[in-house]
Amino acid sequence: MTEPYDAIILGGGAAGLMCAAIAGQRGRRVLVLERAEQAGKKILISGGGRCNFTNLHTAPDRYLSANPHFAKSALSRYTARVFLALVEAHGIAWHEKTLGQLFCDGSAKQIVAMLLEECARGGAEVRCNVDVTAANHADGLFSISANGQTLSARALVIATGGPSIPKMGATGYAYELARQFGLKVVEPRPALVPLTLGGEDVLFRDLSGVAARVDAICGKVRFHEAALFTHRGLSGPAILQISSYWRPGDMVEIDFLPGRPRGWLRETKRTAPRSTLRAVLKDALPDRLAATLADRLGQEGELQTMPDKALDAAEARLARWPFCPNGSEGLAKAEVTSGGISTAELSSKTMEAKKVPGLYAIGEAVDVTGWLGGYNFQWAWSSGWAAAQAL
Ligand code: FDA
Repeated sequence: MTEPYDAIILGGGAAGLMCAAIAGQRGRRVLVLERAEQAGKKILISGGGRCNFTNLHTAPDRYLSANPHFAKSALSRYTARVFLALVEAHGIAWHEKTLGQLFCDGSAKQIVAMLLEECARGGAEVRCNVDVTAANHADGLFSISANGQTLSARALVIATGGPSIPKMGATGYAYELARQFGLKVVEPRPALVPLTLGGEDVLFRDLSGVAARVDAICGKVRFHEAALFTHRGLSGPAILQISSYWRPGDMVEIDFLPGRPRGWLRETKRTAPRSTLRAVLKDALPDRLAATLADRLGQEGELQTMPDKALDAAEARLARWPFCPNGSEGLAKAEVTSGGISTAELSSKTMEAKKVPGLYAIGEAVDVTGWLGGYNFQWAWSSGWAAAQAL
């Protein structure tokens, strides 16, 4: 057995690389073990290859967790601005696309190169093609079996992410390890994932490819972004966002004409009595969508022939059009996995397990899931940085 490391970090993704770089720069002897042939593979495919690396509006209320307060400490100490300063220090050009989402002008490769450079600067070693299969703890040391070798360290950091997109090599190893060490795991579920439609709603699949800016609503949560009809159901940013809050059996409602004042259809009847509902919808929505909604509302004829009550009913339906998803496209298509290692088991300041000193968990492996738009990387950076301060 070789000389123990100060810390072994399992997983060379966003959180693991950030943690290794900072801990190394703080003088710790650090080793990252990554099972894929290269580090940061999810970063490389993120944001359509341009990596939406953070969000300027990062705030704890944009994260889902059994404990909504858990993310506050790390997010407030390592902020989006601090990460942006690092990006700029590496000369990486960036732009804000929309809603505070920051992307590389060039390529996500620049973010991976930056993290690897920071690791090198701290002397942190990153070994790829190492599939960790066993970890144990005895006499104050963690020992790791990997590729037939045993390595040891005073601290072990679980940074193996979540199981979404298994074809990228994602695993549920973090949960296995957490359970082995007696830590609870909040049921993992696909999140930021397209929803599928069945039953009556199947007819909407004919709209495959049509997108519109809507409000997607699930319970008390509402997102104003684009929704996209697909051959399997519903997708697009508004739906991906709402999917993180959706549970099987829940309804998703869509406001197809968000922002309209109450009574707008009665008002249209007054100002354009000879218009039809179909024409009114066509003015505001893509043709195929407008036609489908008009068909389903079944209100033909000029507005002036329609009683106000019928207009009110149509208006109410358009503002809360109910869909009953019969499922989601699952982990194979989910951008992240929500749930994970219970935050009740961890210190929010250091990410260390309360009952296993020296064991840490960071990034997506933990039950903290961000909205779409750079929030998940920011959590990876912030939680990785927080753990590195304590290693
Ligand atoms: P991450 O998954 O990055 O890293 C975990 C690492 O552990 C992997 O490299 C894996 O190979 C390794 N590993 C697993 N098991 C192992 C084992 N047994 N032994 C050794 N290594 C092991 N977020 C965002 O904020 N902006 C965006 O633009 C996008 N875009 C995006 C696109 C797509 C297609 C996906 C799938 C996801 C995104 N995300 C995103 C989400 C983001 O990628 C994700 O939240 C972070 O990568 C999580 O960082 P982690 O370091 O926790 O896990």
